[in-house]
Amino acid sequence: MDRCDRLVDVGRRQFLRGGALAAAATATAVALPATPVKAAALARVDYPSNRLANVADLKSNEPLDVAYPDENAPGVLIKLGTRVEGGAGPDGDIVGFSTICPHKGFPLNYVAADRTMNCPGHYSRFDCEAGGQQIWGQATQNLPQYALRVDEKGDIYAEGVDELLYGRLSNVL
Ligand code: FES
Repeated sequence: MDRCDRLVDVGRRQFLRGGALAAAATATAVALPATPVKAAALARVDYPSNRLANVADLKSNEPLDVAYPDENAPGVLIKLGTRVEGGAGPDGDIVGFSTICPHKGFPLNYVAADRTMNCPGHYSRFDCEAGGQQIWGQATQNLPQYALRVDEKGDIYAEGVDELLYGRLSNVL
C-alpha cells in the first residue's frame, strides 16, 4: 500500500467512525423522554400588562412617548386616524411600537406625512400602518409592535411585543 492509499484508508476509517458516532447520538436523542416538550414550556413568556395612556391623551397622527415593557424600552403610541389591521381602540387605529431600531439600536423618528418610523443610523424605514413592516434599509426584522388592549374607560394597556426588542435576549427582564 503506497502513501496515497494509506491516507485514503485512514480517511475512510475516520468517516465510518463519525457515522457510527452520529448513529449513537441519534439513538440517544430518540431515547430521551419528552425533553422537547419541556423546553417548549420553558420558552413561553408571560408578558406584564402595563397601562401606557388613555385614548384621550392621543392626538391624531402625533406619537405619544411611552416605555414598554420597562422604562429602558422607549416606544410610542400613535392614533393613525385610519383603521388598520391590529389597531386598537374604538376606531381600530391605535398602534404602538418600540422606537429602537432593530438593526443597531439607533432611536427612530416618526414621520407623520407617510406614517413611518425612520432611522438616522442607516436609514431603515418601518410602516406603522402595516404592523411595523420594514420598507427600506439594513434592518433584518420588522419593528417590534405592541399588543394593545383598550378597556371601557379608554385606558390603553400593552400586553406583549411581537418581535424581539433590540439588544435583548427576552422582551421581559
Ligand atoms: S441602526 Fe437603524 S438602520 Fe442601522
